[in-house]
Amino acid sequence: MPQAHEERDPGHTVAVYPGSFDPPTRGHIDLIERAQGIFGRLVVAVGVNGSKTGTFSADERIAMLTELLAEHDSIEVTSFEGLLVDWCRARGLGPVVRGVRNATDFDYERTMSMQNRALAPEIDTVFLMPSHEFAFTSSSLIREIVAAGGDASPWLHASVLTRLSEKLRR
Ligand code: COA
Repeated sequence: MPQAHEERDPGHTVAVYPGSFDPPTRGHIDLIERAQGIFGRLVVAVGVNGSKTGTFSADERIAMLTELLAEHDSIEVTSFEGLLVDWCRARGLGPVVRGVRNATDFDYERTMSMQNRALAPEIDTVFLMPSHEFAFTSSSLIREIVAAGGDASPWLHASVLTRLSEKLRR
């Protein structure tokens, strides 16, 4: 089994930011831009779980992220299925970047990163803090606000807000 950092060439590091992005929020974009500032190249990966259908399809999530990140040349948006670390290994990606907003996130992320490390010791997880204005939000809370007719514009880009409103108020 590969060991931590084995055969990793820092000059060819491509970090990966995985998530469900249902929908992508301003908080996600904030995290993505922070990660790109550190790692240069970044793959944003929409996790596809066959048994879980969300508000948006994987293709719709990819389309929204691609549009929001259109001006960032060194960011690729794609999707993956199955175990994150298997997919990272197959594509030579890593480290994994995850946002930590609060202590609850930290507990969850610590468990997930240690589990991922047990599966793939060579793939580290790096944690980043979002801007404070995005530290108390989540996609499900935003969906709730939009469904009830509230103003979610502080947390969603206009194009995403329009699509989400169409979905939820049909
Ligand atoms: N701003 C706003 N919200 C944010 C955020 C930010 N910066 N960062 C995370 N969130 C929110 C998300 O919107 C989401 O909110 P919701 O639960 O209300 O929808 C929540 O935090 C968790 O988000 P996400 O980052 O999408 O994580 P997740 O826990 O759903 O994990 C995968 C998604 C794809 C990374 C994970 O399921 C995975 O790796 N799956 C593959 C299978 C696998 O390898 N499992 C691990 C085995 S050890």
